[in-house]
Amino acid sequence: MIGIFDSGSGGLTVMRAIREVMPDADIVYFGDTKHAPYGIRSRSELSKLTVAGFRTLTEHGATHIVSACNSVSASLALALLDLSAIPPSSLIEMVGPTVRSVVSGTYGRVALVATEATIGSGLYTEAFEMFDRKIVPIAIPALAGAIEAGEDETTLTAIITEAFSKEVLGTFDTLVLACTHYPLVLPLFERILGPSIRIIDPA
Ligand code: DGL
Repeated sequence: MIGIFDSGSGGLTVMRAIREVMPDADIVYFGDTKHAPYGIRSRSELSKLTVAGFRTLTEHGATHIVSACNSVSASLALALLDLSAIPPSSLIEMVGPTVRSVVSGTYGRVALVATEATIGSGLYTEAFEMFDRKIVPIAIPALAGAIEAGEDETTLTAIITEAFSKEVLGTFDTLVLACTHYPLVLPLFERILGPSIRIIDPA
């Protein structure tokens, strides 16, 4: 059984993608809404929540885990996996597959939006540098929490618009949504950035 883990509803965008290729897959989903949003938490807090989340999923029968939360990837030290019943080969997280997919595609100048925890970890920047690629990292600290809280379109539009200063606009032509909550508001990103920006949902 596949266990999917996120701080809340963001991982549903990943579950939707899994369902497209595996319609009959047996899935157990855990959104840790009690502790959401994750993106404002420290690495040590995220480590504890990740171990607890994986345990919840294995207790409910998961044999494989999709960690559908970019913010959690920063806390995914291999040593942590020893604390869960899931071997590394049975775990998929977001960062590695996203970077592999982007560097093997024909994208131009890439910017990446994510939570503060994800951007602050430097994980994406370092991973792209391993392929000699520079990205423009942009944190949108309030967005995942606002989506999770069901804020209205005006509020969400203001949060997204504020993240793209004039200096940043014009430095990229491709935008990676490196928070699984963000594809839930894809139409807002599209409207704010316009048709010249290609938007990637890593799910
Ligand atoms: N959806 C998660 C991510 O991909 C977490 C967002 C949050 O809870 O702040 O980063």
